[in-house]
Amino acid sequence: MTTQMTEKTLFGRTALVTGGSRGIGAATALRLAQEGADVAVTYVNGKEAAEDVVRAVEALGRRAVALRADAGDPEEAASAVTAAVRHLGRLDVLVNNAGVGVMGPLESLSPADVDRVLAVNVRGVFLTSRAAAAVMPRGGRIITVGSCLTQRAPGAGGTLYAMSKAALVGLTKALARELGERGITANIVHPGPTDTDMNPAHGPYAAGQAAVTALGRFGTAREVAETIVHLAGAAYMTGAEVAVDGGHAA
Ligand SMILES: NC(=O)c1ccc[n+]([C@@H]2O[C@H](COP(=O)([O-])OP(=O)(O)OC[C@H]3O[C@@H](n4cnc5c(N)ncnc54)[C@H](OP(=O)(O)O)[C@@H]3O)[C@@H](O)[C@H]2O)c1
Repeated sequence: MTTQMTEKTLFGRTALVTGGSRGIGAATALRLAQEGADVAVTYVNGKEAAEDVVRAVEALGRRAVALRADAGDPEEAASAVTAAVRHLGRLDVLVNNAGVGVMGPLESLSPADVDRVLAVNVRGVFLTSRAAAAVMPRGGRIITVGSCLTQRAPGAGGTLYAMSKAALVGLTKALARELGERGITANIVHPGPTDTDMNPAHGPYAAGQAAVTALGRFGTAREVAETIVHLAGAAYMTGAEVAVDGGHAA
């Protein structure tokens, strides 16, 4: 084995990152590849962006594939796992990153908004995690992207989104208990305000969000990805909530 191989913590592992075409998911796919993992990413509309991520992973010497799979569709949420295994041979790491943010006052949120947010942010995570757990070997890792709004709601407008992300905390802890005896871990990362298309650091609501963090700024997708990748290599962390939020919850 070469020195380069032994230095990479995830060499020989394969990962599936849902919503890996942009933002936190794309940054995570690249960091996983830098640590030696082969990576599948899902997308819905961003085919070209997802293919850019594939090329960037391949440029690091790893295998990659972009899969169109809507996390809000029950069949596609589960079949993304099957497709990742078909392309990469096995699945060691699942990053449940795909998510949608529908914010606004209570009265502005329609039943269709509620259904869509719960379908993508909750049901999709459940179904993808279940499909992954069915094929993961010992040492498997399930890492879910939650939100700082599950820890603290510093302003109005986040009811639906925070409700959906809070469900993932319960899922993560129960998954940790159910899968622990198979040596599979489940953890959740709570990003604070993070500069992406979903929540640009110079958007109309940015200043207020930065102000409620202890560090007074947005995080970067790369900063969140660092913790996700750490959890992908961590054997004795499970059922944990890890905030990467600049002190939003402090
Ligand atoms: N940014 C923040 O401040 C922040 C804070 C806390 C938590 N989060 C969470 O972090 C995660 C990533 O957010 P982000 O800021 O990186 O978002 P983003 O920049 O909007 O990127 C979202 C990614 O998810 C994909 N996606 C969206 N809907 C999908 C669906 N139904 N099925 C599969 N993929 C889907 C998108 O694919 P396409 O390119 O095909 O659209 C894209 O790759 C989300 O779960 C979000 O809730 C973000």
